[in-house]
Amino acid sequence: MYAALKSIGAYIPQKKLTNQDLEKMVDTSDEWIKKRTGIETRYIAAEDESTSDLAVEASKKAIERADVSYEDIDAIVCATITPDHLCMPSTACLIADKLGIRSVTAFDISAACSGFVYALSIAKAFIESKMFENVLVIGAEKLSSIVDYTDRTTCVLFGDGAGAAVIGSCEKKEESILDVKTSADGTYKDFLITPGCGSKYPCSEEVIKNHLQFIKMKGNETFKLAVKTLTNDVLEIMKENNLKSEDIDYFIPHQANYRIIEAVRSKMNFPKEKTVMTVAKYGNTSAASIPMAMNDWYESGKLKKGDLMLLDTFGGGLTWGSALVHFAGE
Ligand code: ACO
Repeated sequence: MYAALKSIGAYIPQKKLTNQDLEKMVDTSDEWIKKRTGIETRYIAAEDESTSDLAVEASKKAIERADVSYEDIDAIVCATITPDHLCMPSTACLIADKLGIRSVTAFDISAACSGFVYALSIAKAFIESKMFENVLVIGAEKLSSIVDYTDRTTCVLFGDGAGAAVIGSCEKKEESILDVKTSADGTYKDFLITPGCGSKYPCSEEVIKNHLQFIKMKGNETFKLAVKTLTNDVLEIMKENNLKSEDIDYFIPHQANYRIIEAVRSKMNFPKEKTVMTVAKYGNTSAASIPMAMNDWYESGKLKKGDLMLLDTFGGGLTWGSALVHFAGE
């Protein structure tokens, strides 16, 4: 018995934030943002919408498309760095409550942009060990709640959104999640960091005054390491699974910057038309980025049952991961 990705769903908030809007907020330009990142728009959650609300909408679609009932969900794993509440309850518990799912294992994981791939590895292990039959895996972020809209080096990059998938079992290897690899190196802990409002620097007037509750990023250093790590990662997972670029139907990388995606794609000699690119529309939505991109491909009719997807991600921690996943949905 294998673990399989049975469905995908996503939710994109209503409010669009364009590069032109950002030009009015900080010293930046549409030209700079497009040239350096490829981003044109991103979507921002409403004030009264929290991460769990975005996740619930994505989850409803994923559950419906997997053709399982809410009672069939045994576990909910929510990957997020913007939980509704800093400590407790977990966002996964709030999602379970809003969906009316009781007697369920529910918890959050924190692996920044790599969160969805990390969550996928947990779900795969749950299913293959026969501990659970259906696991709801979610990547959801309200990054606008930790973005400093006075800092031009970060505020142009991020957006909000959610993606969800139901992971169940299957008997055919050609419909299964073939492999998931995850890794981290804490040496680079300060490359991407929200320094304040945790136990090290609890929320205080000083923390707020110095904007320490917001994302700080060493952009250029992160960029270089991202290209190197993401490339090594995909080459390694393909080699270990005896696969070549031509065996992969779609490459779905983390959507942080089109230049990073382009560099990795060309190093693996992979066709552009089979590389899923949603960064222009949504910006970087961290853990939600890969499932939102997968959902776009699915809703545009391109993703078909049996297609082999190569996922590749990189984020704060630093964390990274890759996965070889057949789409087992209809
Ligand atoms: N508008 C105009 N100018 C800007 C802006 C802006 N929004 N932001 C920075 N600049 C300026 C800088 O101040 C700098 O000016 P200077 O040369 O006078 O000092 C110049 O542009 C170049 O800045 P760099 O940081 O060197 O630009 P770079 O080409 O590296 O692009 C970027 C910056 C887009 C952030 C890029 O480094 C990047 O994408 N990094 C990786 C992001 C990533 O992958 N993150 C991981 C996942 S995120 C997560 O886990 C939550």
